[in-house]
Amino acid sequence: MRIYMEKDYAAMSRRAAHIIAAEIHKNPACVLGLATGSTPIGTYQKLVEWCKAGDLSFAEVTTVNLDEYKGLSGEHDQSYRYFMNDNLFNHVDIDKDFTFVPDGLAEDAEAECAEYDELVEALGYADLQLLGIGHNGHIGFNEPDTCFTKETHVVNLTDSTIDANTRFFANRDEVPRQALTMGVGCIMAAGRVLLIASGEGKADAVYNTVCGPITPECPASILQLHPDVVIVGDEAALSKLVAAGVEVCK
Ligand code: F6R
Repeated sequence: MRIYMEKDYAAMSRRAAHIIAAEIHKNPACVLGLATGSTPIGTYQKLVEWCKAGDLSFAEVTTVNLDEYKGLSGEHDQSYRYFMNDNLFNHVDIDKDFTFVPDGLAEDAEAECAEYDELVEALGYADLQLLGIGHNGHIGFNEPDTCFTKETHVVNLTDSTIDANTRFFANRDEVPRQALTMGVGCIMAAGRVLLIASGEGKADAVYNTVCGPITPECPASILQLHPDVVIVGDEAALSKLVAAGVEVCK
């Protein structure tokens, strides 16, 4: 694992965006695995800025997102499809037909999950998979559990995740209780994983990811087995790693 420590959220976002832009420059027709949530917003803003300036093009890029709330349509302003359109796709030269997010309204959610795995496999998996991390160590919506789940699946969100995501909804009752998420299979099959983290609230999760045992109780800990992981965090998110003497690049 290569770990980059940046001073703050803005610098973390810039560093992460450079890594994604480099991947696109290396292979303009790459497959990017993308994430939603608060953490990647600054990264997407940078990519949009460079695209608008003519320094980057998504014209040949294909994207696959990690997850979607079950029961929300792509038009719902808290759906992850809406988030992606709003934060990235509407502002860059990507062909939206080549952007994929699980369908939260699929009548048969299990079938949708199986089709999503087939799609990601047919695309040859992500060249670069961007991940945020939950306070409990979740990646995508792979919540702490007694075993890792390989396939895309329907998951019951934990109370801590519902609490964390209530800030985006009118109240806690409106937060969907289930989501469709890529399993660890597609994530681990990506050529490179880029995990970004910001703020003190993520410090324990990041520490457990890097230094803790590989356990489904901290789903991100499986990344210790991936051959090409880059973590970019701000000082607060990496504070426990640094305190433990883990070497980070500055
Ligand atoms: C969302 C996702 C989640 C988030 C995580 C952190 O697509 O995959 O795992 O990355 O919940 O969310 P933020 O960035 O809002 O703290």
